Amino acid sequence: MHRYDAATDELASAVFDYALTRVRMDPPPLDGPRSPEELARQAGPTITEEGIGGLEALRIFKDVLAPATISANHPRYLAFIPAAPTNASVLFDLVVGASSICGSTWLESAGAVHAENEALTLLATEAGLPAGSGGAFVQGGTSGNLSALVAARRRAADDRSHPPRRWVVLAGAEAHSSIDHAAAVMDVDVITVPTPDRRLTGPAVEDVVAHLDEETRAGIFAVVATAGTTNLGIVDQLDTVAQAADRLGVWFHVDGAYGAAALLAPSTRHRFDGIEQCDSMIVDPHKWLFAPYDACALLYRDRDRAVGAHTQKASYLDAVQDGAFNPADVAIHLTRRLRGLPFWFSLATNGVGAYRDAIETTLDLARRTAEHIAADPRLELVREPDLSVVVFRRTGWAALDYERWSEQLLRRGLAFVLPSSVDGETVMRFCFVNPRTTIDDVELILGTMGD
Ligand SMILES: Cc1ncc(COP(=O)(O)O)c(C=O)c1O
Repeated sequence: MHRYDAATDELASAVFDYALTRVRMDPPPLDGPRSPEELARQAGPTITEEGIGGLEALRIFKDVLAPATISANHPRYLAFIPAAPTNASVLFDLVVGASSICGSTWLESAGAVHAENEALTLLATEAGLPAGSGGAFVQGGTSGNLSALVAARRRAADDRSHPPRRWVVLAGAEAHSSIDHAAAVMDVDVITVPTPDRRLTGPAVEDVVAHLDEETRAGIFAVVATAGTTNLGIVDQLDTVAQAADRLGVWFHVDGAYGAAALLAPSTRHRFDGIEQCDSMIVDPHKWLFAPYDACALLYRDRDRAVGAHTQKASYLDAVQDGAFNPADVAIHLTRRLRGLPFWFSLATNGVGAYRDAIETTLDLARRTAEHIAADPRLELVREPDLSVVVFRRTGWAALDYERWSEQLLRRGLAFVLPSSVDGETVMRFCFVNPRTTIDDVELILGTMGD
């Protein structure tokens, strides 16, 4: 099982052939889910006492399991937030898997963490964060937001002489569900700031705070702004929210899981003014920075101060607390895949300029799609896109029409698009992160929306 023998060699060829076949697919198949019963019948029992053999397990994966999984890098996958990993990043992911490096500590993974840190420094520099900033790659935006808020609360607890009755986070009404989830995990309260235009602003934050009683106000430890909301792609007014957080004397966190990638695009950089004042931020390379699942870049303005909130203490770990930087010390994780390495390898291979161009390509497609929708009498734009999410309605359609239509598109293998809702109204939402998606793809999809 562990010795590299002739059978392993045969299996290696088969696995690499299949992996390369997938990488070469242009486009990959869209595929789609099947019922548990159908999968059980088609795949049969795969885990047995004797093992079914690698070649047979691979055959079952290729023929039965893979066709029941949707390829998020299909150019007409526009639901949720798609993925579009570069070839270099996908290929290097194989190397990460083959290398068995644990990314927890400098002792175990200095070389790899050095490379990850270079990628983090690029993102910090684009955001305008000062020297001393840094962090780690974590599993996803959800764990990134949670880790940042834990560090924020720790800072507040250290700085204040009395603990409040309840700790409180302020976030805009359009903030991602992971903020509520983080607050639930931490047993803190979230006060939602109403955003009339759906864009959080500093004055809106200050207005809410002015109406709180003193005890509640004393519990505020962080303000969260979103740089690219998930549903509508809106970038909050980061500069005024930063000022509000500063006046309150609390931590300013920016959730840029989806949108902060557009920091790299000259045409949208101005939307992020104020991000340089954040105490922490996240951006997911697995969303719009063309890396494979799963990777979130978690950045702190002052990396070393975040260490206190997350370092795990145990006698078997004493040997690694020697002053060197350990990624395990700045987030909720210990054992860690080097999930930033595929992103680093692709940046090194392609250059940052190629990233700027690819992000601009998707932004341009979003603008062209919005123009196309505005010119089509059947369709109505819900709002002009800030970034690459385009939301619109098909006049005369109700929820069921959108659902039936999107189900049919997936069944035909044509596209994966899903309705969303705005103020209770069902609408259509396209999210573009794949530079291989073209206006022809968009027109093909829109063309199926009936006369
Ligand atoms: C703005 C925002 N924050 C957080 C998340 C959560 O990220 P993840 O799914 O990687 O946990 C998402 C996911 O779409 C998001 O759009």
